[in-house]
Amino acid sequence: MAEKQKKLFIKTWGCQMNVYDSVKMSDVLLPLGYETVDSPENADMVILNTCHIREKATEKVFSELGRLNKFKKQRAEKGDETLIAVAGCVAQAEGDVIMDRAPYVDMVFGPQTYHELPEMVAKATGAYGANRIVNTEFPTESKFDTLPEEGNAQGVSAFLSVQEGCDKFCTFCVVPYTRGAEFSRPADQVLAEARALVKSGAKELMLLGQNVNAYHGEGPDGKTWGLGRLIRELAEIDGLARLRYTTSHPRDMEDDLIAAHGEVDILMPFLHLPVQSGSDNILKLMNRKHTADDYRRIIEKLRNARPDIAMSSDFIVGFPGETDADHKDTLKLVEDIGYVFCYSFKYSPRPGTPGAKMGGIVPEKVKDLRLQELQALLNTQQKAFNEDSVGKVMPVLFDRKGQKNGQLLGRTPYMQSTHVAANERLFGQIVDVVIEDAHANSISGTVVTEETTSKNSKNKKSSEGRAAA
Ligand code: SAH
Ligand code: SF4
Ligand code: F3S
Repeated sequence: MAEKQKKLFIKTWGCQMNVYDSVKMSDVLLPLGYETVDSPENADMVILNTCHIREKATEKVFSELGRLNKFKKQRAEKGDETLIAVAGCVAQAEGDVIMDRAPYVDMVFGPQTYHELPEMVAKATGAYGANRIVNTEFPTESKFDTLPEEGNAQGVSAFLSVQEGCDKFCTFCVVPYTRGAEFSRPADQVLAEARALVKSGAKELMLLGQNVNAYHGEGPDGKTWGLGRLIRELAEIDGLARLRYTTSHPRDMEDDLIAAHGEVDILMPFLHLPVQSGSDNILKLMNRKHTADDYRRIIEKLRNARPDIAMSSDFIVGFPGETDADHKDTLKLVEDIGYVFCYSFKYSPRPGTPGAKMGGIVPEKVKDLRLQELQALLNTQQKAFNEDSVGKVMPVLFDRKGQKNGQLLGRTPYMQSTHVAANERLFGQIVDVVIEDAHANSISGTVVTEETTSKNSKNKKSSEGRAAA
């Protein structure tokens, strides 16, 4: 059924779910003859997979579209057709605006319609008389039932979507509007995709969901499985060495999932658990439905289950109504928890969300200062954590090639990005590395050999499994 080879370029913004979706879109288009390329100039089809989470999202899309239109015109002069498509969360939120303002855009479609791509492409390319496509429906059937399980291999560390959408409606956030209601994939579908990914070379799986720990999929036993149960089952897959999940909500951090952190070896000791603010007033205005102390207690339970668990979070500063005292509460929470890596943002009002209509707007200058103060504290914590790694031996999964020859990049169990001078044949393996240097955003070290073992035996603090070096 393979047709004439065509070139597909996908540009991806936003969260890991979008990265995963881009892989799925290329998988769906593969049987139609589309092969993924690295630049848009000569592509027969370009998809912008967009993100709407913070300001200027739509403007970024329009400026990229302007650039693409030039390529489209150049190609048209040679008689070549170019399909321009906008997917993702901006497409979902602003579909009609895009169609009006950019008449050269052929297709606009939302995140829940990617399984309908072959049909949409057929309509847009003129098989039925070229049509412009706008598809921002939330179809009743699940896209996961028809999206291919196998396709373009993702490599050593692979994403696997288990849950999508959100019913939480935090007052600052567009996700419930762009991704729709919470949906969990049936467990056997997830397990089958996981096995396929491991078969095609994945050693690590990152389970994805907008609220991944709200997972409540149907199990093969007819019962509803939570994320803890799903993780225990995935951990049985032969050849799978590491499991992670993101992004979680504190409200869904159930005891069974916390227990899994203590029981499942391959569940890595790192958790991204966004709290957004350390002030109960602001958490309430944000509709997070938990207090700062609830969050502290969850982390305490997690640390009881897995003492070395490293924590990470997202923060928003300058939400409407945020006072200096509220901001201090956030700094206090950061000090209490001790994070290894965080994202922090200035609040950006999003059209259509309740936050955008709230009073007590915080001036931009105040937001800037608060962000600086918070980031300084978070950077100090990150640096301290990285420095504390020096002298330890850590298993590193080499999942990327470095910019320099003879350099491999990987991650420790705690998600630290690690640079190592290492033989290329170690790519894709989990190898013991003795950490020698700490930098602001990464660490570096040397593969453990007999020699490094004896050299570092004095300060060597841990070692799991030895890889041939
Ligand atoms: N589902 C995740 C977050 C998804 S969005 C959760 O519940 O935590 C990723 C991050 O973007 C959020 O954690 C938040 O910190 C940030 N964010 C979302 N909306 C924002 C806005 N309007 N302004 C600034 N930051 C925002
Ligand atoms: Fe957005 Fe809140 Fe849902 Fe996370 S839980 S996706 S922040 S609405
Ligand atoms: Fe952005 Fe949509 Fe993800 S708004 S963060 S791409 S869910």
